[in-house]
Amino acid sequence: MRKYKIVLAIACLFILSVKCSKDEPTPDSELSAIEQAQLIEAKLGPIPTFTCEDGVLIPIYVNGIEVFEDKPDGACDNPDLKGACKVGSRIGRIQGTYENGDPRAEVVWVFFCRRGDNFAQMIGHNTTTGKTCFLELKDGYLPTNTFLQPNVDVPTPKDAVYNDAWKAPKAIAIQGCNDCHRSDPFIHSRWVVGAKMPNNPNEPVLPELATPSSPYCIIGPDFKNWELKHTYIQGNSCLSCHRLSNINSWNSSNNTDWNLYMPPNNPGSQASDYQEIKDYILNNLSIEDVPPCN
Ligand code: HEC
Ligand code: HEC
Repeated sequence: MRKYKIVLAIACLFILSVKCSKDEPTPDSELSAIEQAQLIEAKLGPIPTFTCEDGVLIPIYVNGIEVFEDKPDGACDNPDLKGACKVGSRIGRIQGTYENGDPRAEVVWVFFCRRGDNFAQMIGHNTTTGKTCFLELKDGYLPTNTFLQPNVDVPTPKDAVYNDAWKAPKAIAIQGCNDCHRSDPFIHSRWVVGAKMPNNPNEPVLPELATPSSPYCIIGPDFKNWELKHTYIQGNSCLSCHRLSNINSWNSSNNTDWNLYMPPNNPGSQASDYQEIKDYILNNLSIEDVPPCN
């Protein structure tokens, strides 16, 4: 009799736990890539296709002269975020459109093919509303060139394989793009701004859109836990044109000394304000939420 009761109890527990796990609302929404794409397209218009090889090569400079082969880490004027001086990465800008293909001035897409990644990334941004999305292809899904950059047109939501090609939003959310893309959608490292528009050698491919008050938020429920923050110091002159946060104001891994470049019209003239920012960042002081979306 006792044995029977124990078996019964275990069976009940089992049934209960199955039932519970079924009934419990999932804590996060976990949309599929295509469901996320629908949310994105409602705010930004159609997600465009691109192929990495249409991107502009990001140049590497040594003593101001472009070089066409890899240099050891740190041995160039403009290392990437990890301090590397490798040639071959590409970036491209695509103007946003409406559903009917008409240009949509306030929307911009930037795709990025870091050499060796075996995937590509894209950020879409609406400058009026601040709504932004982060996209990343699944590692190795598409054929690539020798630099492991996808070299075919990437699938758009109109293609049946969209879900197979692009990561679901949750998979992107856990990668924490916001750890670095924290105060604004785009990061203008010295490396990436070297790539210039084919029709204008003075205009970086990566658009300069941010202001101290531009709205910034992420589309989609899977990103609701992403913190978007910036360093706020009353009266600091470095913060009069744009916001700054951890990695993009002082990148400790490649030690970009922004005092050499900023402000653009008179580099070095705001050295003490820059020092103040570095001190604040190292001590995690005065961090505030970015202005939310309109
Ligand atoms: C460890 C910091 C870090 C993380 C995390 C990160 N990025 Fe970036 N990202 C950068 C930096 C820095 C650049 C500028 C290029 C450079 O110097 O490497 C950049 C550039 C880009 C660009 C080109 C446009 C621009 O802003 O310069 C895209 C697109 C991009 N990242 C997408 C993503 C996506 C999508 C994720 C998350 C899946 C992500 N990034 C995560 C640091 C990061
Ligand atoms: C007069 C306006 C202006 C002022 C003042 C200014 N900047 Fe900038 N800053 C820019 C522009 C424009 C860019 C983007 C183009 C570029 O990178 O050259 C930029 C880009 C940057 C970036 C890259 C940001 C990113 O997207 O990751 C950093 C870091 C930066 N500035 C730091 C500073 C610091 C530090 C100071 C103070 C010493 C400063 N800036 C003062 C105009 C300004």
